[in-house]
Amino acid sequence: MSELLLLNGPNLGMLGQREPEIYGTDTLADIEDMVGAEVADQGWKVIAIQRECEGELIRAIQDHYHTVGAIINPGALMIAGWSLRDALANYPRPWVEVHLSNVWARESFRHESVLAPVAKGVIAGFGAVGYRLAARALIAATETNRDR
Ligand code: DQA
Repeated sequence: MSELLLLNGPNLGMLGQREPEIYGTDTLADIEDMVGAEVADQGWKVIAIQRECEGELIRAIQDHYHTVGAIINPGALMIAGWSLRDALANYPRPWVEVHLSNVWARESFRHESVLAPVAKGVIAGFGAVGYRLAARALIAATETNRDR
């Protein structure tokens, strides 16, 4: 069975109780279930990992090169996670950067992602739905590659 990597960075394990006016009330478990439901018809299984530290996220990426693609919310590591960027640049499959909030509508320090240039695409501002959109985008990207 094909596997999809769903990776969440620092503070995202607190979803549901973390600033719900910004991040919504869905928990990370809810989001993991949503992504699982979105890719089930494709026959994909979700490997969901959340870590607080950059090094552990890097290790998770290196351990999952066999996955069909990845959805990654790096949290604030988007801003200066250079080692994470290097790890993602070497990840062999398409991956999508997701942010629940519209980071460009917030403080200016959130406006630049050092990761986005090596992503297939970025989805921000749609709350938990953004993860589902990312899953659909990865399915489409995989189907496009298969047709080639
Ligand atoms: C976030 C946005 C980041 O700026 C913030 O540090 C987070 C969550 C989002 O999903 O909107 O931790 O990635």
